[in-house]
Amino acid sequence: MTTDAKILSALRQNPGGVSGAELAGQLGISRAAVWSRIEELRKVGFEIEADPHFGYRLRGEPDALLADDLLARLGKTKVIGRDIRVFGQTTSTNDVVEKLARDGVPEGVVVFAESQTRGRGRLGRKWMSPPRKGLWFSLLLRPAMRPQQTTQLTVASATALRRAILIHTNLNAEIKWPNDILIAGRKVAGILTELSAELDRVRHVIPGIGIDVNQDPSDFPPELRKLATSLRIEAGDKVSRAALAADVLRELDREYSRVCAGNFSEISEEWVEHCETIGRDVTVQIGDRKIRGRAESLDDEGALVLRTEHGRLQRITGGDVSVEK
Ligand code: BTN
Repeated sequence: MTTDAKILSALRQNPGGVSGAELAGQLGISRAAVWSRIEELRKVGFEIEADPHFGYRLRGEPDALLADDLLARLGKTKVIGRDIRVFGQTTSTNDVVEKLARDGVPEGVVVFAESQTRGRGRLGRKWMSPPRKGLWFSLLLRPAMRPQQTTQLTVASATALRRAILIHTNLNAEIKWPNDILIAGRKVAGILTELSAELDRVRHVIPGIGIDVNQDPSDFPPELRKLATSLRIEAGDKVSRAALAADVLRELDREYSRVCAGNFSEISEEWVEHCETIGRDVTVQIGDRKIRGRAESLDDEGALVLRTEHGRLQRITGGDVSVEK
């Protein structure tokens, strides 16, 4: 953790105040160095009060994503979030992570952007990523798995997202296979998993996650208002993006450990429990083809198992699923 991240975590652990001398002792730096870091944190928007009796107290936080702040909130994780980078604007965070992957950066790095100029969704769709309204980020993973198994990572990410949303906002979200998170039937988050692989081995996987956090209805174009929502709209209150981001990364780290330990069945049980697709009649659109049937289960690789209208079982690994009303 950087010095700033350590200062922020000490301030959060001591809401009643922590003295400059204590901070200096904990961090192994001088009191003057503590003061100068506090000044820097103030410049990026942290309101830090200095009281002669109580010491430093955190009074307010900026609505901005800052790598040190995210590291401080997250604390120690096994893999995901060991390295966090924040950009003001990018084309797509998946592109940034792809480049880091090619440069040999270790797995676990997370790249956030305050806004994306070319955010993309599944099936070549655009993903709107307006500044400071949501969380737009991508992870670099290097799992020892076959390319066919990577749907497990999308399923694991969806389970982690659902749980983090519940922990943070108390909202009960549902999952739509494989990657949509819905609240009251409207999409609030999505996952785009991209990978680089050889025939039987994955080189790296990049789950890119978009969460609509603080949009008002008017922030969505009219054609999306019935289909999309934000956590703020559903919770009725503004949500701290930084605090939510830390909860999401913590849950993602947990789920990734489970996948790597071969415990996908535990994840899939939780997933099925909260999935609106299972047990429903669905239509799957794969390119120009439409397949109708009943979504029966999830298999070991995360594929959707469909009983088609002709009675055959078919594995679905891609495409667009819509649930018949
Ligand atoms: C979908 O539902 O179709 C997936 C949407 C994924 C959007 C995220 S935002 C961060 C990352 N960067 C991108 O360009 N896309 C993903």
